[in-house]
Amino acid sequence: MNRKQFLKTSALAGASLLAVKPVLSAVGSERKEKLRLGFIGVGARGQSHVEECAKRNDVEIVAFADPDEAWAIKSGQLILENTGRPEAVVYANGDYDYLNLLKRTDIDAVFISTPWEWHVTQGIASVRAGKRVAMEVCGAMDIQECWDIVNAVEETGVPIMMMENVCYRRDVMAVMNMVKQGLFGELIHLQGGYQHDLRGVKLNDGKSPYGKGVEFGKGGFSESKWRTVHSVYRNGELYPTHGLGPVAMMANVNRGNRLVSLVSMASKSRGLHDYIVANGGENHANAKVNFKLGDVVTTLISTSNGETIMLSHDTNLPRPYSLNFRVQGTKGLWMDDLNKLLIEGVTESHQWTADAAFMEKYDHPLWKKYSKEAEQAGHGGMDFFVINDFIECTKKNEPYPMDVYDMATWYAITPLSERSIEQGSAPQEIPDFTRGKWMWK
Ligand SMILES: NC(=O)c1ccc[n+]([C@@H]2O[C@H](COP(=O)([O-])OP(=O)(O)OC[C@H]3O[C@@H](n4cnc5c(N)ncnc54)[C@H](O)[C@@H]3O)[C@@H](O)[C@H]2O)c1
Repeated sequence: MNRKQFLKTSALAGASLLAVKPVLSAVGSERKEKLRLGFIGVGARGQSHVEECAKRNDVEIVAFADPDEAWAIKSGQLILENTGRPEAVVYANGDYDYLNLLKRTDIDAVFISTPWEWHVTQGIASVRAGKRVAMEVCGAMDIQECWDIVNAVEETGVPIMMMENVCYRRDVMAVMNMVKQGLFGELIHLQGGYQHDLRGVKLNDGKSPYGKGVEFGKGGFSESKWRTVHSVYRNGELYPTHGLGPVAMMANVNRGNRLVSLVSMASKSRGLHDYIVANGGENHANAKVNFKLGDVVTTLISTSNGETIMLSHDTNLPRPYSLNFRVQGTKGLWMDDLNKLLIEGVTESHQWTADAAFMEKYDHPLWKKYSKEAEQAGHGGMDFFVINDFIECTKKNEPYPMDVYDMATWYAITPLSERSIEQGSAPQEIPDFTRGKWMWK
């Protein structure tokens, strides 16, 4: 079977949900009935992972590492108590106590859901300690980090799964099905992005997210404690994976295709400042903060197969949530903001057609099968699928559908976009983190 045929058939038949053959093979051959899990970071996202894992009878929740005992650890333990599970062992003695969690020999895998600046350091320490990793989404601090994590996984043979949950969104998987079945013809242009009004998350009253406060850093709560600081010092595509992950999978990036170069441009920065003035007054100390992050950052990426991919990062202005997907090929076009598509020869030409009937017809078989389980899970159900894939692949010792090469490639967009903006939108080469394995013929 050649590569193309493989991708076409495996898109429906494979064991994993995304079913694109990963570059790296998993280590070992031991199969496990039950996994013992540790959680590094038990904040908002960590708790949602704990909650989802606590529903499963094939996992034990062994330990939590998080310096915030008062909120994070307490809330995590409450989830265990409410689901009749034993308390987790706690590592809350500062930022480095996760290293003691990693010393335990009764943990198979860890979930990392910490602030962005910790992901790679903790991911490397985890694989070096022999723990498989479920890694939350973000962008890298610099390019070296991306190489460091690839090298650590290659040296240890302990794999990492990139937990890009949007790849499992129901409509995204249906469109992936349509792409693999050729409805769009050959792909030409793709779009995605992170367009989410986070002003209330980045600036709040220090008690809960979505308050109307204007605090961040030490005075903040959850993401406002750390995410907002990135907006003070950095200007780039800070959150690339929700937009890029799904379209990279559709375009077989790292599996016969690769990202080659990018250019980025940033608008001026007004949103966070205006929000502070509106909610805290002109004289509030934070009204003097100069936010570096442009309100709308646009990035254009080229691929070796000749597609273009546009990403947009837009988190500081009033707007409805949208990941801005657009999938365009020689025979068709889908735009998720419109919930509409056009398929040449099938729908009316030069007209939009509602995508609902197509979503139903091409609904992924796994969504049909597990929609009930997914119903209760976070983010419209997609969190069930991403966790299920991680747990099942780990138990069976199968390779992950999104691996460390995907992680490095997607994370790299952030520092490269920062550099491009700094250099007046100069093109930046995107490294081939697979070192040629993307071609695997
Ligand atoms: N995939 C998704 O849909 C999704 C949704 C939300 C957040 N996230 C990602 O999850 C991660 C966490 O975000 P969040 O919203 O939970 O933030 P959060 O601030 O609520 O939680 C982060 C937690 O990490 C803890 N922490 C900080 N330093 C640590 C260290 N050295 N060791 C261990 N724990 C440490 C903090 O005390 C906090 O409890 C981020 O990367 C974010 O981008 C992903």
